[in-house]
Amino acid sequence: MHHFQYRNGELHCEEVPVSLIAREVGTPLYLYSHATLRQHFKAFDGAFEGLSHLTCFSMKSNSSLAILRLFAGEGGGVDIVSGGELYRALRAGVEPSRIVYSGVGKTVEDVEYALRSDILLFNVESSQEMLQLNKVAGRMGKKARIAIRVNPDIDPRTHPYISTGLRENKFGIDIRRALEEYVLAAGLEHLEIRGVSCHIGSQLTLVSPFVDALKKLKALVGDLEEAGIHIAYLDLGGGLGITYHDEAPPHPEEYAAAIRKELGTEDLSLILEPGRVIVGNAGILVTRVVYTKSSGEKEFIIVDAAMNDLIRPSLYGSFHGIQPVRVTNRGTVRADIVGPICESGDFLAKDREVQALESGDLVAVMSAGAYGFSMSSNYNSRPRAAEVMVKKDRYYVTRARESHEDLIRGETIPDFLNG
Ligand code: LLP
Repeated sequence: MHHFQYRNGELHCEEVPVSLIAREVGTPLYLYSHATLRQHFKAFDGAFEGLSHLTCFSMKSNSSLAILRLFAGEGGGVDIVSGGELYRALRAGVEPSRIVYSGVGKTVEDVEYALRSDILLFNVESSQEMLQLNKVAGRMGKKARIAIRVNPDIDPRTHPYISTGLRENKFGIDIRRALEEYVLAAGLEHLEIRGVSCHIGSQLTLVSPFVDALKKLKALVGDLEEAGIHIAYLDLGGGLGITYHDEAPPHPEEYAAAIRKELGTEDLSLILEPGRVIVGNAGILVTRVVYTKSSGEKEFIIVDAAMNDLIRPSLYGSFHGIQPVRVTNRGTVRADIVGPICESGDFLAKDREVQALESGDLVAVMSAGAYGFSMSSNYNSRPRAAEVMVKKDRYYVTRARESHEDLIRGETIPDFLNG
């Protein structure tokens, strides 16, 4: 359920015509619905009601300050993977006591920053990281609260680039070695063991891999208790999928019910790290047709958004719905929807049956709220798009479109080149 719907053939975001925003703010443009964001956060978080839990929005999926502030206001925390994300989260007003930090390559500087900020939990992903964290915490006169991110060796049955819980993936510590790592951690003076964590992949459309992972984690928690190591938090990561095309992922209620059942009466606090399921369908990318052309064999619709704005189709072959902002009776055409970037990999959709479009028409690329803007770049020296949030009958520019000046910020030409 989302708030991008047609009224009299005109696509609206809540009560505002998308064409009005495109005209006033320009394209390409990311557009988010406040009501959808809020509703998705509450649907996910509410599904765990009655269980001690913390919903830590995975901000790599969308790190907009406005969106982070919205979720913080709903009582959410965040899952971060860098010092930059920590900075954004704090600037958005997220409580440090609701921040968990994952990532295989945390640098000393980032770890110091997180310790200074007094975050809730470090999800440690290797022995070297554990020793380093102990050292840095000791130097700072602090104790780092940790969970070990274990790799449960579970196939999430998703795209290989976004499956993370298999032994062949770089993430976490092999669950078979976890006990010895915990014993090692217990002997380190500046660490405080608080949890066990895992994250097995993204865009999962089945509940069973989550339940299988939870079973393995529960067994580990039991072994740890026997070894005298008490666990307070169970972090199950994120990964719940959404409908881009014809996928039928479980509803958060179904996901939560399965977790609740498997968890039983364990006296553990859950940490959840959803990203995509909350923001994915709460945002669209709005773009304008620049030209159309035909190669004789193929029709091309060239739009002003490109792989630098939304890389998912190029990188993962992902499907995003392509919808006209104004419905016409021109009929349909089968075409590639492509951007202006100088690579054949620059496409938003391939061989897609869409409404016949003409130069100047607006197009909505659907389900672009997760891993859309946050993965965008300046490739081909293209300024990054504006971001806009709609609430009811008003819109708010939450990020200005980058300017040409922005493109060269921080660059210098060394004196010796100045002839
Ligand atoms: N927690 C951890 C430790 C993660 O690595 C991720 C995502 C999440 C939570 C959130 O997962 P979600 O609920 O959004 O599935 N760029 C890719 C997705 C990469 C996901 C990376 N990790 C895409 O566009 O599909």
